[in-house]
Amino acid sequence: MANARKYMIAGNWKMNLTVDEGLRLVERLDSKVGRQTSVDVVVGPSFVALHEIANLLKWSKIRVAAQNMSEFESGAYTGDVSPRMLLTSGCSDVILGHSERRGHFSESDESIGRKVALALANKLMPIICVGETADERDRSETESVLARQLKGAFPDSVKENVKAGQEIVIAYEPVWAIGTGKVATPEIAQNSHSFVRGWLRENLSATIADSTRILYGGSVKPDNAAGLLAQEDIDGALVGGCSLKSSEFSAIIEATPGYTPEVVTESGAAKSA
Ligand code: 13P
Repeated sequence: MANARKYMIAGNWKMNLTVDEGLRLVERLDSKVGRQTSVDVVVGPSFVALHEIANLLKWSKIRVAAQNMSEFESGAYTGDVSPRMLLTSGCSDVILGHSERRGHFSESDESIGRKVALALANKLMPIICVGETADERDRSETESVLARQLKGAFPDSVKENVKAGQEIVIAYEPVWAIGTGKVATPEIAQNSHSFVRGWLRENLSATIADSTRILYGGSVKPDNAAGLLAQEDIDGALVGGCSLKSSEFSAIIEATPGYTPEVVTESGAAKSA
């Protein structure tokens, strides 16, 4: 049975694109996929571009995510960006626990858990990243690493808020597949996604496990997206490099199962094809 979860294709721009470059990309993307509602589309610009990009997308269906967030509400934390700043800049979502934050900036499982809790308390939807390194995979530690990262990301307050109906998205991003061109095979990705869903079932509930979207990230491209997205437990993609070009990012969106372009009728009204 095809799953009932709506696919989400999210772009993580990382530390790329100036404000002007981002605006140009988003204008092109919006004209192609900004009216359709068959697939949720998210862009993840840098902090400095968030406000202008969100403004440009005010009437679009495309959502805006930040790439990180402070674990503190506000105050003397030089260089940090608070949840309220993100919300008032027009963000609805926030990527948390990306492996580049864990690796280069020593973010711990516990700190990521505090950020997830704070995001939910501020009504931002977290896209929580988990994934093993190549060494961990070689040592057959994939599942124990995923379980440890998930446990950290779901302190009790997060579990309570999710049980009370707040939405989260999980992104499985094997570190060895990020920016390397070495995409996980659909089977490898599906195995990890199924493990993550099982963890949600055991630690939250069957309903939450069935309704939570789990995205795959790591060298997703227009020519490998369809194979990954056809897997039972893969509900979308978190795209790095290929989200920096509107043509490639749109091609991934168009390769998503169930994608329906919006068409404009003779009367000028928009509807799904
Ligand atoms: P690439 O698509 O460039 O491999 O990056 C994946 C990623 O890290 C998305 O968050």
